[in-house]
Amino acid sequence: MENLRNKYIQAIDIAGDENALEAVRLAALGKKGEVSLKMRELGQMSPEERQVAGPALNDLKNEIISAISAKKEALEDSVLNERLKSEWLDVTLPSRERPAGTIHPISQVTEEVISIFANMDFSVAEGPRVETDWYNFDALNIPSHHPARAEMDTFYMYRSENDDRAPHVLRTHTSPVQIRTMENTGAPVRVICPGGVYRADYDQTHTPMFHQVEGLAIDQSLSMANLKWVLEEFVKTYFEVNDVELRFRASHFPFTEPSAEVDIRCSWDNGQLKVGEGDDWLEILGSGMVHPKVLQAGGIDPNLWQGFAFGMGIDRIAMLKYGVPDLRAFFDSDLRWLRHYGFTALDQPNLHAGLSR
Ligand code: DAH
Repeated sequence: MENLRNKYIQAIDIAGDENALEAVRLAALGKKGEVSLKMRELGQMSPEERQVAGPALNDLKNEIISAISAKKEALEDSVLNERLKSEWLDVTLPSRERPAGTIHPISQVTEEVISIFANMDFSVAEGPRVETDWYNFDALNIPSHHPARAEMDTFYMYRSENDDRAPHVLRTHTSPVQIRTMENTGAPVRVICPGGVYRADYDQTHTPMFHQVEGLAIDQSLSMANLKWVLEEFVKTYFEVNDVELRFRASHFPFTEPSAEVDIRCSWDNGQLKVGEGDDWLEILGSGMVHPKVLQAGGIDPNLWQGFAFGMGIDRIAMLKYGVPDLRAFFDSDLRWLRHYGFTALDQPNLHAGLSR
């Protein structure tokens, strides 16, 4: 009995994990365990022998059971302690670095413009950057001989030598998306069309690729008054000021009649632009009432419908709002510039939380 006791208490003591401990338990107390077999032998003993051996075996069994459960607890504790050691976390450390990437100001401003117009029930339409000259020019009432074609410094995409169809063009403005939208949705309609456009031009305020946003609203009784209200709402919200003054200057575009260029009142303090006050005027967009011929080209009856349109440079309004002096830097992919002017990746502009924060 004493030998059995020593053997198992020692085995329990050195068991290194729960599996080893279970093996000891089976060897002692399992169906064919040594202690169990001894207990079975009680039946063949004389009553006197049994009276001594019975309680002793029971005590041994209980001692082994409690030694096993004590050891089990100790093993569990040490597992937990190991985990606590390895999973230790210093909650006073500063939080993880922000993602290295930033949102490009053009993407940011595009999102800002979209959210402002979405709030006035405009949806977003897009068109291809490689256009036919019909969508880019003819449908917008700019025929072949028209000076606007030459003025736009168009990039032509020439076809193979013996293909004499007219070349495609890199769209010179977002206005062709007006025609595509009219074809797709008919009237009434209210859309803005942001995207890249191309002209052969390069200096501090011009790059061969830049961005515009087109606006188009067609209904039965829209007028210049509606245009003016929409643009005022837009400018106030975009520049985050309470009041703006817009100036409509008579102008000429082939696709609108009448046409107006729109300026906003502003001041320049040490090169710092302030919108809504001052004695300067800043031109920000072209606009007008959609020309009947343009409605017709889009498959809309100009006797039943009328509307307004406008076109604005996204890069230009981005430069103005965020104080970027040179347009070319937008497209240089200079990491230092991107980190300086970029926006944090997780803040989406929206009207309720604030556009630019
Ligand atoms: N497409 C013109 C440009 O690129 C801008 C423009 C002016 C668009 C007047 C319009 C508009 O829709 O009505 O210069």
